[in-house]
Amino acid sequence: MRVQADGGDAHWWRRAVIYQVYPRSFADGDGDGVGDLRGVIGRLDYLADTLGVDALWIGPLYRSPQVDFGYDVSDHTDVDPAFGTLADADALIAAAHERGLRVILDFVPNHTSDRHPWFVEARARRDAPRRDWYVWADPAPDGGPPSNWTSEQGGSTWEFDAATGQYYLHSYHRTQPDVNWRHPGLRAAMLDVLRFWLDRGVDGFRIDALHMIAKDPALTDNPPRDDAAPNGADRQHPDHDTQWHVHDRMHPDLFDHIARMRALLDDYGARTGRSRIAIGEVEAMPWESWVRFLGRDLDGVHWSFNFNFLETPWEPKALRLSIEAQEEALPEGAWPNHVLSNHDRPRLAGRHGERSVRVAAVLLLTLRGTPTLYYGDELGLPDVAIPPECWRDPLGRDQARAPMPWTSEPGGGFGPPGGGEPWLPVPPEYRERSVAAQLADPDSVLNLYRRLLALRRRSPALLSGAYVPLEEGGDDCLAYLREAPGQVVAVVVNFGGDAVEVELPRPGRTLLATDRAEVPPGPARSGVVVPAYGGVVVELERAG
Ligand code: GLC
Repeated sequence: MRVQADGGDAHWWRRAVIYQVYPRSFADGDGDGVGDLRGVIGRLDYLADTLGVDALWIGPLYRSPQVDFGYDVSDHTDVDPAFGTLADADALIAAAHERGLRVILDFVPNHTSDRHPWFVEARARRDAPRRDWYVWADPAPDGGPPSNWTSEQGGSTWEFDAATGQYYLHSYHRTQPDVNWRHPGLRAAMLDVLRFWLDRGVDGFRIDALHMIAKDPALTDNPPRDDAAPNGADRQHPDHDTQWHVHDRMHPDLFDHIARMRALLDDYGARTGRSRIAIGEVEAMPWESWVRFLGRDLDGVHWSFNFNFLETPWEPKALRLSIEAQEEALPEGAWPNHVLSNHDRPRLAGRHGERSVRVAAVLLLTLRGTPTLYYGDELGLPDVAIPPECWRDPLGRDQARAPMPWTSEPGGGFGPPGGGEPWLPVPPEYRERSVAAQLADPDSVLNLYRRLLALRRRSPALLSGAYVPLEEGGDDCLAYLREAPGQVVAVVVNFGGDAVEVELPRPGRTLLATDRAEVPPGPARSGVVVPAYGGVVVELERAG
């Protein structure tokens, strides 16, 4: 299969499973210890055939000082030398397309690196033509920051620039100045970045920190929250809860900017016969705010990541409420998703223990919506303990970014034989957890993912069926139907340590069970045994 024109299938992204590649950590092609694009190209067969996903989302590959590992872009139209060259990016896109895999890039619209030529110019003089491509403000009357806003990473969001006597805004690290989407020149330049990559053939963008790109132009202070103190344990957002973030993000202008991005994508889709998508990285609960990113007529982002599972206790009742909350909030025609992990959080096994790994696999691939599978989760990788003195990420997110173990050889086959020390320690369990070891074990987590992906691909109910909650299974289980016109499947996942016998509403045939590599065909039954810390998928007989 090749990615060519959609053939009228503008909704390919609803059926797709997206695989998140963290480029530093996926595969090291040149042996310098850092993953790169040649490494990814070498593993495309794994993604397309061995695993069977449909698209890859690759983290920021642009030229960058790598303070925030690529989310600090210093040149949007070049590839960072750590990852390769522009020719490698072209080769990656072409090689992925040849295998039927779509390619989604990270687009970072809220900020650049302070080494980006735009910022270097803006910072040089108050009257620099690009000064207002960033957000500058005079000091408050006492000389302090222009507002009380706190950055996502703690402390003031404002950094004083002594040379020009003004503060610049940085919602994240101080080396990541926020750009000013109110400036038409900046807007045009950012849309040109999208064009540059669309012209190279990419199929869409995961848009970073999209809720952040417009702020109150009057820089009104955020109301303080007296109920919350700084939280030192939350390294990513230590000061987040000390104020209500009502003025430093989510200004309604941002919906116009999103509409412009979407129009550009639609235009490319119409001209090339291949629809391109926008996925929002949006932190904007409550649901009424979150759904606004989809646009009034679904003309905003195609979907936004739903991070609620990351905050929800790992137990059936709470997760069910979270699933239903999204189902209820989505406007007619919109499409759901549930994020189970990514490069910013501890891994699933780190958050909820080994017991969550198979349950999560079933949920991810059988709930309604587009799944995004974080690299290494298909191996059930645990977090890697890295002492703070060895952290590479200032916020300590390294634990979930360990090099992917491909083989059971020393170094886990992350790079070529004789290659350099990987940039982070390889997971100590690499021998048992590697791709090679797990492929050889029919009962491995990797083989469970492969079975689930294959099943999903051929199941109209799993691809597009409605979600109908079931009460069956008791307190330890989460059960639901996926109902499509030609097929109804029941999914039951068991969060408990004992197998549970569940009576389904109608007899059916088990298509998949997490504790068995193969389920032999047999008569339809309405009783099904759901393994401990696992699940089953059953195709129900037609009613009546
Ligand atoms: C997003 C990214 C995160 C990055 C931040 C700033 O949340 O996922 O890794 O640090 O934006 O760009």
